[in-house]
Amino acid sequence: MDTLIVDGPTPLRGEIEVAGAKNSMSKLLTASMLTSEPCSFSNVPAIGDTEITKAICEALGARCTETGAKALSVETPEMPVAAVPAALAVQNRLSVMMLAPLLHRHGRAVVPAAGGDRIGPRPVDFHLEGYRMMGARVETLDDVYYVEADGLNGADVTLPYPSVTATENLLMAATLARGRTYIRNAAIEPEVVDLALFLQKMGAIIDYQVDRTFIVEGVAALSGTSHAIMPDRLVAASLGAAAVATGGDLFVRGAHQGELLTFLNALRRVGGGFEVAGDGIRFFRSGPLRSIAVETTVHPGFMTDWQPPFAVLLTQAEGMSVIHETVFEDRFVYVSELQKMGADIELYDTCLGGSECRFGASGHRHSAVVKGPTALRGAEISVPDLRAGFTYLIAAVCAAGRSVIRGVEELDRGYEQIDKSLRDLGAAIERKRD
Ligand code: EPU
Repeated sequence: MDTLIVDGPTPLRGEIEVAGAKNSMSKLLTASMLTSEPCSFSNVPAIGDTEITKAICEALGARCTETGAKALSVETPEMPVAAVPAALAVQNRLSVMMLAPLLHRHGRAVVPAAGGDRIGPRPVDFHLEGYRMMGARVETLDDVYYVEADGLNGADVTLPYPSVTATENLLMAATLARGRTYIRNAAIEPEVVDLALFLQKMGAIIDYQVDRTFIVEGVAALSGTSHAIMPDRLVAASLGAAAVATGGDLFVRGAHQGELLTFLNALRRVGGGFEVAGDGIRFFRSGPLRSIAVETTVHPGFMTDWQPPFAVLLTQAEGMSVIHETVFEDRFVYVSELQKMGADIELYDTCLGGSECRFGASGHRHSAVVKGPTALRGAEISVPDLRAGFTYLIAAVCAAGRSVIRGVEELDRGYEQIDKSLRDLGAAIERKRD
């Protein structure tokens, strides 16, 4: 287990480029297996999740070849194996996404329940119900899904909630299904749209309507194509929050205004400044930081992944801020470690700050009140999930004294050379390998 030693506080200053989006890369590589022809990708992030994704694809028959810096070719002439190896499935949440290529090319899929972040129960019932509606036979035994289909049929699916991966999974399934598929109440996150664009380049026919319905006409076959992976807007926003929280000044190359609209509004309300350029966004503090209320929701709302780093920023703002998390019921697992660092954050099981959400009567502590400003102090902390890990790093850079952050492998899953990157921006960070 690697450890990061951080001595703060330091304002982050300079320039940094965001890598390709983790949550796009994994779905695009999976979608490429819908064809036997090669697909080539650029802007592939050099992160742990790329290695895990490649390993899962290769276990099922894909050949992944690095073709240059951040460039990858994926070719899957055959899919001889129906089962995702259990040892790989537990490492991220991708295994259930293998249903589409496996069912279309093999007719059978054996998929162990997924791993991934500890931010809630994260069921896959929407995925499986969608496949059932498309004609697949689904059985679950000892946390393994056994799914079979003699080709999938178009269906009219309404998701109970606009799940990102369920939408992506059913989009992939629908491209080669017989007839037309409607995916209603779908997620329209930029990563989902990026996948739809890639599938269209492969030959799929996909429309979407203003009421968040995807309509897919099944085609007989898809072909190889090439695609540039979109920059990671989760990382871009995390860096923006870090620049303002630490009182620094960062140019984040690859940050796109259009994908960060709601984040930028919240940042401005808090007292953060930003300047949009053609190739990125500069983030800085424009005055005293003020408290605000934010509510996470589906796109185009304030993303759930933005809230942990934003909470650190709110610890530095004057007054009482409210965060209402409506996407994942246990997203505040990171708070106890921030409290150890001196953050004044209280959690509530009620819906604070405005609207009622589906977690209102669940007993889950999904609202937070953050009082500030508080002088954070260094502490010993361990990383429970990817985004929480980056949040601790920002907090440690803001905090006075030494922080020791354990379990850094989780961070490496989603961030390229995070310690070196932050060191280049002025942070005092050392990695210790145990
Ligand atoms: N849900 C169900 N049943 C399902 C699917 C989802 O009840 O079958 C519920 C979830 O429990 C949750 C809500 O629907 O309450 C939304 O979950 P969603 O499916 O949208 O999340 P996800 O697809 O599992 C992706 C990203 C997350 C990101 C969310 C929200 C990937 C691999 N993960 O998760 O990213 O937070 O969408 O935008 O794409 C991360 O990168 O660290 C990360 C957690």
